[in-house]
Amino acid sequence: MESYHHLGIHHKTLQPMMPARDTWTEKERRHYVRAHLPYKESVREEYRAFETRGDFSEDLPPVPGINDEQKFGWGLFHIHPTFLLATAPDRVIWYRLQPLGPDRLKLLTTTLVPKGIVARENFPLLREKAAAALVAFHLEDLEVCTAVQRGLYASGWQQGRLSHLEMPVWLFHRYLAARIRGVWPTDDRAAAPSQRNV
Ligand SMILES: [Fe+2]
Repeated sequence: MESYHHLGIHHKTLQPMMPARDTWTEKERRHYVRAHLPYKESVREEYRAFETRGDFSEDLPPVPGINDEQKFGWGLFHIHPTFLLATAPDRVIWYRLQPLGPDRLKLLTTTLVPKGIVARENFPLLREKAAAALVAFHLEDLEVCTAVQRGLYASGWQQGRLSHLEMPVWLFHRYLAARIRGVWPTDDRAAAPSQRNV
């Protein structure tokens, strides 16, 4: 969920749209972590032009009724421990992270769009494009996640410090620590501050 890794593995796909340095995370909450991935200015301008042109034959239109923040960036919602939603201007990606053991998980992704989209003539094309994009950037993740798992089994492994851009990982660790204490995050300790006082 952290967007620090846009810099590395997604440097050709997500980083040009949502640079890691602009991503930020809200303060600690009892049951969830909320992160924001704003588009960079040039992408916002392109999206405004795309919307004005109104040609949605090859791309999904924005979801009706969304506000500017929702239109010009992605949102991430992680509900502890395994429920994750990524909201884009035109779709929501629902992740089901199903642990198979301490070192393996099954990931199921489902793309959600407004009901009317399914009835459109170009829906098969839009679905194919959406699925291809999703597979492409998850293959980038898979490569790194597999390498991380390999690294954890190496004898010279040492934990490093997290970047401030990895705040969702830190909040997840705090969630685990709270559950070990038998409480939920923020129950017995003050909430960890946001990167933006939100
Ligand atoms: Fe990723």
